[in-house]
Amino acid sequence: MKGSHLYCLLFTILGVVQYGVVASGSKSSVEDQQDVLCPVPEDIFPCVCGVNDNNTLDIDCSKVVYEDELANVFRSYFPNPNFRRFTIKFNYYLQTLRDGALGNTTYTEFFFTESVLEVVEKNALSGSFHTATYLNFYSTKLQSFPFDDISSFTKLVTLDLRFNYFHEFPNISSVTLKTLALGGNSFDHLPTEAFVNTPSVSSINVYLGKLWNISSGTFSGLPYLESVDLSFNFLKHIPEAAVEVTTPTYINLNYNMISSVEVDAFLGVTGGSIDLHSNQLKEIQEAVWRPLLQYKVQLDLSKNPLECGCELAWLVLSDTFLHQVNENTTCADGRLVVDLDPADYEPC
Ligand SMILES: *[C@@H]1O[C@H](CO)[C@@H](O)[C@H](O)[C@H]1NC(C)=O
Ligand SMILES: *[C@@H]1O[C@H](CO)[C@@H](O)[C@H](O)[C@H]1NC(C)=O
Ligand SMILES: *[C@@H]1O[C@H](CO)[C@@H](O)[C@H](O)[C@H]1NC(C)=O
Ligand SMILES: *[C@@H]1O[C@H](CO)[C@@H](O)[C@H](O)[C@H]1NC(C)=O
Ligand SMILES: *[C@@H]1O[C@H](CO)[C@@H](O)[C@H](O)[C@H]1NC(C)=O
Repeated sequence: MKGSHLYCLLFTILGVVQYGVVASGSKSSVEDQQDVLCPVPEDIFPCVCGVNDNNTLDIDCSKVVYEDELANVFRSYFPNPNFRRFTIKFNYYLQTLRDGALGNTTYTEFFFTESVLEVVEKNALSGSFHTATYLNFYSTKLQSFPFDDISSFTKLVTLDLRFNYFHEFPNISSVTLKTLALGGNSFDHLPTEAFVNTPSVSSINVYLGKLWNISSGTFSGLPYLESVDLSFNFLKHIPEAAVEVTTPTYINLNYNMISSVEVDAFLGVTGGSIDLHSNQLKEIQEAVWRPLLQYKVQLDLSKNPLECGCELAWLVLSDTFLHQVNENTTCADGRLVVDLDPADYEPC
């Protein structure tokens, strides 16, 4: 405390010297708030505390170079330990976020991104169990994360763990979570129960993985589901009831190896869109797609080796349906589906 006051004095004097001539010694209100709400800058160096217009606080610790240094920062005196945002990015030193490393501070939004972090210890984020709405660990090297802790966050809305080193699909439980971003990991298997403990989820992405198959019911019983992104995997077959929804939904299956889609693969889809760009479909089967087009679903089947034989007559002969299919959809021989001559399909 003594040290803190000394620094305050020093800063006031510096402030007067620096601004005295132009601003008659008065500091801006943001600087005033900074002194009142933030810790003494030297105490938390190399972290930096800042005050937003609405008096919320952010702290940036990107420049911390070892675990003990981070722990020391958070042993300092924090006049207000309740922050809006924590940020560490482009940090090439910290590998572990330890339990207790953040002292008594709490956060609404937690960003630890584009870094070399490998481990988040159990309870490392426990200070924010009742405040965090947003946890983002995008593009680090995480292989160990306290997934058991997720159910303790009472306000968590978004969990972004894209581009990490997870292999096993985690067991995540949260009644509040809406966005679950897990793309860019190496999951080779999506358990049928993957999402049963996240009943409020509206957006799920598991793109850029190694998924070879999905089972019926994996995306069922999620009343708020609006977006599913499984693009850039190795899926070959979409089984019955792969996705079962109740609201207009965006389903992205682009860049897989899908050659068959079962009847009733997508249930309850009304409106929204289903993208199967760049797959291996040879047919647009009436039994599979007509029910969806009747419910105004938009379909992207471009970059598929479509044969465009008589099995396509139902589509080519319906202007309404054709308008719901991406205009760039081509047959294997390069002809655009929208340009096919209905007359050729009359005899079918
Ligand atoms: C406070 O300000 C920050 C940045 O200026 C903004 O992003 C945030 O939404 C504001 N929070 C509230 C509660 O208004
Ligand atoms: C954290 O809170 C506890 C209990 O309120 C207190 O004893 C401790 O000194 C605080 N630690 C820091 C670093 O402020
Ligand atoms: C997943 O977690 C929930 C709640 O933490 C637990 O009840 C369930 O048994 C777990 N499931 C598996 C397969 O581990
Ligand atoms: C799904 O893929 C995994 C991994 O390739 C395989 O072990 C499993 O048997 C497959 N399941 C089904 C139902 O095809
Ligand atoms: C079709 O392709 C053109 C040219 O690449 C592009 O500008 C247009 O947006 C595409 N249309 C749709 C519906 O994707």
